[in-house]
Amino acid sequence: MNENCLSKGINWVGVIDWNIRDFHGYITRRGTTYNSYLILDKKIALVDTVKSSFSKEFLDKIQEITDLEKIDYIIINHVEMDHSSSLPIIAELAKNATIIASQRGKEAIIEHYGENFPIKTVKTGDEIDLGNRRLRFIEAPMLHWPDSMFTYIVEEKILLSNDAFGQHLASAFRFDDEIEENVLMEEAITYYANILMPLGSLVSRKIQEIVKMGISPKIIAPSHGIIWRSNPSKIIQAYLDWSICKSKMKAVVVFDTMWNSTNDMARAITKGLISEGVETKLLKLRSAENTDIITEILTAKAVIVGSPTLNQQMFPSLGSFLTYITGLKPIGKLWSFFGSYGWSRGAVKSMTEIAKRAGFEIINSGLEVKYVPTKDDLKMCFDFGKEIAKKIKS
Ligand code: FEO
Repeated sequence: MNENCLSKGINWVGVIDWNIRDFHGYITRRGTTYNSYLILDKKIALVDTVKSSFSKEFLDKIQEITDLEKIDYIIINHVEMDHSSSLPIIAELAKNATIIASQRGKEAIIEHYGENFPIKTVKTGDEIDLGNRRLRFIEAPMLHWPDSMFTYIVEEKILLSNDAFGQHLASAFRFDDEIEENVLMEEAITYYANILMPLGSLVSRKIQEIVKMGISPKIIAPSHGIIWRSNPSKIIQAYLDWSICKSKMKAVVVFDTMWNSTNDMARAITKGLISEGVETKLLKLRSAENTDIITEILTAKAVIVGSPTLNQQMFPSLGSFLTYITGLKPIGKLWSFFGSYGWSRGAVKSMTEIAKRAGFEIINSGLEVKYVPTKDDLKMCFDFGKEIAKKIKS
């Protein structure tokens, strides 16, 4: 078997996007891959395609293995363009292929690419017989689009999970036992936090549903990054923990600053938290990326957010951060706000209102300091951090 082979006759034919650094706003420092799988049997199936800018490389890779006209099925697990935008190109060349998608997938294919293809719809439990193996489909609506589904290769127990269990991680290697575990898990949690966090209840329900169906995958092959073959239960357990935003005794202090007053407050609050033994991350907006801040928040119990007042409002970077975080809806966190002001207040009030509307649990009325914090003000900030630490520990 070659290095791209999951099992005899099941080949990775994806592409590696080494240089992408911004995936619709998600900072992808390690690039990504678009994974596609070619299954050779009496009938031939291609599962998912790749981003269209890589379509030539993709077609070449498939044609090294088989003629395009021999492909019987093209399975589209998910229509987002990173996986489907090569479909119009390959469907034209793979003249004998029937496209397989969920009902919502069929609608989305038509809405993206027009009514140019023969599409057969499938629902959970439906199977296609390839000859020596069957493909079973499991709809996974809203994980993370309405059309999403998984394809399960029954005989080999391989779950082709599309976006679920993926990572934005470009590598010359394909499998989890070939790369450093800490790098893999760092990218897996970053991916979960930035894409799947608002869908936690659906994630845990889908995993329970799969277990009830008697499916216990030996291999989980997502559509981005590395394939889990050495211990797929590790990523399943991690998803169950992340789906409830399982927290550690940890706080994240996120802030921005104009003339360092809010910076000084943030540092004093952080010292107060640490003095109580709480692991604390201090992250300044415009230096740290939202992508990384959200990942830290996933495993934190408390989030303390600071902004100076500018034009009776929060600083603009806080607006961007709060828009992103309220959309991702982390559950079970304790929230608090602080900031400096000059002649009129506004930042703490406006941030608190946004958090209230999002349904976040706000644990105090916040902390404000006029102009530059005095020694006493900084002591107050330190104590503010200590009080939050006690709440985390209780
Ligand atoms: Fe939802 Fe990787 O696309």
